[in-house]
Order: sequence, then C-alpha cells, then structure tokens
Amino acid sequence: MENSGKLKTVKFYSGEVTPLEMHKVRVVQKLNLLRIEERKEAIYGAGFNTFLLMNKDVFLDMLTDSGTNAMSDNQVAAMSVADDSYAGSASYTKLVGAIKEVFNQDYFLPVHQGRAAEHIISKSFCRPGTVVPMNYHFTTTKAHIEMAGSTVEEIYTDEALKTKSDFPFKGNMDINKLNKVIEEWGAENVAYIRFEAGTNLIGGQPFSMANLREVSAIAKAHNIMLLMDTSLINENLYFIKIREEGYSDMPIKDILHEMMSYTDFSYFSGRKVSCTRGGGICTNNHDIYMKMRDWVPLFEGFLTYGGMSVREIEAMAVGLIETLDFNVISHSPTFIKYLVDALDSKGIPVITPAGGLGCHLDAGLFIPHVPQTQYPAGALAAALFVASGIRGMERGTISSVRDENGDDVLADVELLRLAFPRRVFTLSQIKYAEDRIQWLFDNRHLIGGLEWVEEPPVLRFFVGKLQPIGDWVDKLVAKFRQDFGDSL
Ligand code: F0G
Repeated sequence: MENSGKLKTVKFYSGEVTPLEMHKVRVVQKLNLLRIEERKEAIYGAGFNTFLLMNKDVFLDMLTDSGTNAMSDNQVAAMSVADDSYAGSASYTKLVGAIKEVFNQDYFLPVHQGRAAEHIISKSFCRPGTVVPMNYHFTTTKAHIEMAGSTVEEIYTDEALKTKSDFPFKGNMDINKLNKVIEEWGAENVAYIRFEAGTNLIGGQPFSMANLREVSAIAKAHNIMLLMDTSLINENLYFIKIREEGYSDMPIKDILHEMMSYTDFSYFSGRKVSCTRGGGICTNNHDIYMKMRDWVPLFEGFLTYGGMSVREIEAMAVGLIETLDFNVISHSPTFIKYLVDALDSKGIPVITPAGGLGCHLDAGLFIPHVPQTQYPAGALAAALFVASGIRGMERGTISSVRDENGDDVLADVELLRLAFPRRVFTLSQIKYAEDRIQWLFDNRHLIGGLEWVEEPPVLRFFVGKLQPIGDWVDKLVAKFRQDFGDSL
C-alpha cells in the first residue's frame, strides 16, 4: 500500500524504458492460437463483429477491460468469506467502509454494473427538455440519457479528437463551450454535468484536476449538479499524479478525495475500477441519494446487494482499496504506453499520448482508402483478428447510430481499441501484438470495407452482422501464408 505518496519506480541500468510487472502470476488460463484459415472461418461465423467471436477462437482478448481484469490473491480470498444474507449482509457493510475510505462518500447504492447506475441516474434526473453536458459520451450513458428524453451535449476541447497530440489532458471540458450550453439551455434545464474519468471513447484520455476544479466552480455558481463517472478513475488518478503539477508527491487517496470533493455524486462500473463485476452510485448528499434510492430494489435488488453476488461485493471492497496502490494503477498505463510508443515510432497511426484503457489505432489513417460508410474501424478489427487472433473492439461508425433519414451518423474518429485488461498480459504477448500490427500496416492496401447483413436498431455494434465487400480477406490470408509460411 502506498503511504508516502512519493513515486517509487524502477529504473533499468540499460536506460531502456521497459514496463515491469510488480506482481507474479499464480493462476493461469490456457490460450489457443488458431491457424489463420481457422481464424478466417471464425470471423465469418461471427458476422465480422468481434463481439460475436467465441473466446475459444481468440488468442489475446483485447475486446475490453470490463470484467476481464486479474484479481489479486486478497480479492479471491475475500470471496470465500462472503456473507450471503439477502438483507443487511456484513459483506455490504465492508463495501460501504471501502467506499468511505477510497472515495470519501457516505451514501452508496449498489447496482449490477455501470449501465444500471446510468439507468437509475437518468431515470431520477433526466426528462424531456433537459440537457446533460459532458466531456464525451459513452455508448450506454448516451442511450440511457436519451431514453429518459434528455439531450447529450459534448463539450470536449479542440485537442480531444486529434489523434496525434502531446496534450496531457485530452479528457478536459472546454470551459467556453460549457458556459455556452448553460446559457443556451438555461441552468434550470441542465439535468447535471457529467465528467467521465479516463474518457473511454476518445482513447482513455484523462482530465486534469485544474479543469475539474473549474467545471465544479461553474456548476456550483449555477446550482447545477456535477456527476463523475469513475469507472476509469484508476488511470485518471495515475495521470494526474505523473502529469499534473503539484500532485507528484501527493498520496493517491488524497488526490482521489480532492477529486470527489468537487462532485455532487458519482458512479462506477466495478467491472473496471475494482477488477470485479458489479457497480455503484456514491454521494455525500442525502437528497440526491433519496431521489435514486427507491429505484434500486425495483430494478437491481435489495439495497444491500443491488444485483451483485455477495462474493463480488467482498472482492470489490478489497479491489477498491487496492486502487490506492500506485503499483496497481500504474501497471496498465505503462504497458499501454509501451505499445503506443512502439507503434508510433514506426509511423503507425495510434492515439497519442498513450492513455489508460488501451491502445487505439486510428483506422481512418491506417486504411484511408476505406470510406467511413464502409466502416474502417470494423474492417480493421476483423483484419487484425484474421492476422493475429487478437480481438479488439470497433469504436467508430458501427458504434454510432443512424439519423432520421436512415443515414449513418459518421463517428468523429474511427478507432480500433485494443484494451489492456489490468494485470493480464505479459510483455512478450504485447510484443506479439506489436509485430502483427506492423505486418498488417505494411499490407494495409489489402484491407477492404464491410457492409451490413443484419443491423439491429439499438446498440447495433453489440450483435449486428456484417460481411466483407469483395474478396479482401482471402487476399490477406494468402499474403500471410506467403510471408509467414506454415507459422501460426
Ligand atoms: N462508463 C464507462 C466510462 C465505461 O467504460 C463503461 C463500460 C460504462 C460506463 C458502463 O459500465 O459495462 O459495467 O455497464 N465500458 C465497457 C467497455 C463496456 O468495454 O469499455 P458497464
């Protein structure tokens, strides 16, 4: 556990900047690497949608960091002492204690995962004619807010959507845009302002404490509530500590308590922040708590479990406290930086600076010959799976929606996200990813577009099916065989 707040990092004698695991692996899961012909068959079977691949066909599962993180030995141990009473479980009391220690929040509502918190928050505070300004949307967040009749306004800075940048806090809100939204809608019609830590869809990019402080002052001046999505708080904390002036010597806990002091309420997906499953809503404001409380037993489960298993609750309490350990929260961003810097130095278009969550390839720049209406990020995700067995996630126009005329609302950026589940992959596995991405980049002219076969009306990226336009997959397989011979 970090006590002093001073950074403790290991320097290599060689001067090389190499990420180092500050844990050892004691439980392992066998992996399977199929031959490229079998991978081709698997991606056809999955309708060129990496969500629909079966894990047995995947080598490195970089789809998401959600629910796929490695638990610590102490988390696994905690699961065996769980108290499974329906009401008033001692496991819940432990979790409430951890919420107080980690977030410094008095009231807690448990839910089965992050989007369930979004459901309850939107149901309680959003209505037609209101707006929710935010640094950037997340898919489920936006869907819940809009389902409740409210409108999402993104007020990101000009830096946010630039792929190549050295701006340290691309998750910041643009203060002028925020003031403008409040003026246009009227403060009384702003349901709340939502700040997403480790902004997911723009590449896991953090916001700064200075920006949060400024947004909080504006919210207070207008009597508007400030909500923070802390699902990706671990990496945002890490970046504030290493990138923001004045925080390098401050203990993680103090940084987090300062962040929370600027908010009125917050929620998290336990699938990310605590390396478990589940989620929750936290606040120090009794009125805010009471407005949401009664929805929890209706939609989630009784107030002391909220749809989570008590074993997960025990593991969550331990996992949240481990978030205060610098060694725990620095692992993922240092490994991500390794891959991002390696690819960037070869001219392969990735989002810089390296963020949390994952390495994001800019498919728009990787395969500029594939138009956005043929889904370059989805095509690149399928091509990388065929080339390597690595499963990434499309974060581009397939993850968007259609407008009232039935046309695709083109995404701001076409990204292929390669998520880094926390403490899961070794450095040689990351080097394999680097190698196959390099090969794909050198053969990028072979990659073509996709078209829909089956397109669901809501959140189509989850279960929709597509097919390649033309025979580009066969060409890719043939080139692989030519270059790699009989290799996997
Ligand atoms: N907020 C953020 C920032 C998220 O990244 C997610 C989930 C949620 C809320 C919703 O939480 O999945 O527990 O319901 N992100 C996952 C991902 C799905 O793969 O990025 P959930």
